[in-house]
Amino acid sequence: MKLTMIHGQAHRGSTCMVARELAEKIQKGMQEQAAITEFFLPEDFDKPCCGCYTCFQTSLEHCPHFQKLKPLADALLEADVIILDSPVYVYHATGQMMSLLDHFGTWWVVHRPRPEMSRKQAVVISTAAGGGMKSTNQDMADSLEMWGVHKVYRMGLGVQSTKPQEIPEGILRRIHKKTDRLSARICRQHGAQGYNTRAKKWFYLMRLAHNHFPPAEPDWGYWERNGWHKNKRPWQ
Ligand SMILES: Cc1cc2nc3c(=O)[nH]c(=O)nc-3n(C[C@H](O)[C@H](O)[C@H](O)COP(=O)(O)O)c2cc1C
Repeated sequence: MKLTMIHGQAHRGSTCMVARELAEKIQKGMQEQAAITEFFLPEDFDKPCCGCYTCFQTSLEHCPHFQKLKPLADALLEADVIILDSPVYVYHATGQMMSLLDHFGTWWVVHRPRPEMSRKQAVVISTAAGGGMKSTNQDMADSLEMWGVHKVYRMGLGVQSTKPQEIPEGILRRIHKKTDRLSARICRQHGAQGYNTRAKKWFYLMRLAHNHFPPAEPDWGYWERNGWHKNKRPWQ
């Protein structure tokens, strides 16, 4: 079992603390041995998408940032569980988290769906002093869901502080309870398969478009080679 965790911030603050607590509980709760791989942004990836469209017109391997991106892309594709976390910065995920996710536009189900997404669970985690967790989690969940990830869980926490040492006792207790419950659920669901409903809906809409409009390459050929214009599906 592999767990990949990408922190949208370089410092080990409240958000990182919650993400690590959850990851460790998942690791303990799994029947099989679980390896955790961690990345910190922007330390481990610091490139904004340059908008060259190379990935859409050829493949992600031709992205000018691919060499730096590859370890993160590989870890995401190999993971059974993905955790993306970010502190709330002006109601959204950090710029470096969004810059990373911009690089995976071709993985969206409307372009070149990745079958391996159907066996993954993912969690998005955000902490804020007061508000903005919902929109921040949505920023990260949009990519995971549109990649086809089987199930995406959301943890938004108002911690009333700017550092972990200052989080009030009552809120800490609530965090421990939430990570207990969610880790147990993730362990129970390990091995479940299928794209989430949102991704499936977009798959079928795109399939319809492929059948009614002139083929847009390289997406059309990728679907054709995989048999998705016929009876095969990326989640089977
Ligand atoms: C640039 C910046 C913007 C922030 N914007 C918000 C915000 O919109 N809403 C909020 O409640 N807290 C906001 N905060 C506070 C942090 O989200 C909050 O303290 C968070 O728990 C910090 O997590 P960390 O310890 O992992 O960095 C902001 C902090 C910074 C530095």
